[in-house]
Amino acid sequence: MEFTLESPIDMHLHLREGAMMEHVTPMTSKDFAAAIIMPNLVPPVDSLERLLAYRKQIRNAKDGDVFDPLMMLFFRKYTKEELLAAKEHIFGIKLYPAGATTNSEAGVQALGEVEETFALMEELDIPLMIHGETHGFVMDREREFLASYEHLARKYPKLRITMEHITTRDAVELLDKYANLYATVTLHHLMITLNDVAGGLLQPHLFCKPIAKRPEDREALLQAALQAHPKLMFGSDSAPHPVSKKECCGCAAGLFTAPVCLPVLVELFEQHAALDKLQAFVSGNAQRIHGYTPPAKTVTLRKTGMTVPERYGEVVPYRGGETLAWAVAEIS
Ligand code: NCD
Ligand code: ZN
Repeated sequence: MEFTLESPIDMHLHLREGAMMEHVTPMTSKDFAAAIIMPNLVPPVDSLERLLAYRKQIRNAKDGDVFDPLMMLFFRKYTKEELLAAKEHIFGIKLYPAGATTNSEAGVQALGEVEETFALMEELDIPLMIHGETHGFVMDREREFLASYEHLARKYPKLRITMEHITTRDAVELLDKYANLYATVTLHHLMITLNDVAGGLLQPHLFCKPIAKRPEDREALLQAALQAHPKLMFGSDSAPHPVSKKECCGCAAGLFTAPVCLPVLVELFEQHAALDKLQAFVSGNAQRIHGYTPPAKTVTLRKTGMTVPERYGEVVPYRGGETLAWAVAEIS
């Protein structure tokens, strides 16, 4: 049995820098035609110069693969001149509330203080991607942030706003309320709940921000993905950390899913008799929403089985040591 995807796009990816970047980039550049590269490096990617240098490193690391790294600036107050100069090189700007997640210390303290930048982004048609969590109780952080999404969607009706890695039913429901509000969802939030993270022995390799939520939340996300809800896009949020930063006291947030995204997605959509919707979910929706055409790349998966390595160097992958039903068999 065979299943083919045309130009899959990962709309939310962490590649890091240096040796880690060189190690993990090919795992995405092999299977995907393009990916949005998150800018939460140390220091953050918050200038055009740094962004272009980072893109060059990624292009060198992608090993000849057909792969378009779509670059993001780290949100700060930008001048119109800076945004005009950056516009043709960036896909969007990623906003982190200060301290919300890995390497977000330089993020925004209060949304009300940066409104001029939102207005400029709307004027110049630069998409805004947001890590939407408050500093409240961990299970409520995303829900508490929804009012901020509503405020921005209303105040800047021409600004394309993406709610990144949504994890709740409430966020899914908000998608239908504002024409300019979109979302990405990860693979793992379609698969796991908080029980998988902390219901038994603590599983550091399933710990991420936002934390996995309740069964009814996962169900709402899954139903939206299986229907390829027209405003929902696949974004893995694959976020590698070395094993020493995961298996320790003070575990870093992030799952490393890059090597298994497509096989697990195909299995999941097959189980729910929704394979006909997967193309839109992993590519079509993103192309239509952002008016972006990825490079041509045909990825064929076969039901030959794939044993996931327990480790890729210093990184432990999602489903490590398990055998998956599908495997990427051919890329052209
Ligand atoms: C991400 C990381 O490690 O960079 N971690 C995570 O848990 N998802 C950052 C992020 O997207 O929140
Ligand atoms: Zn992320």
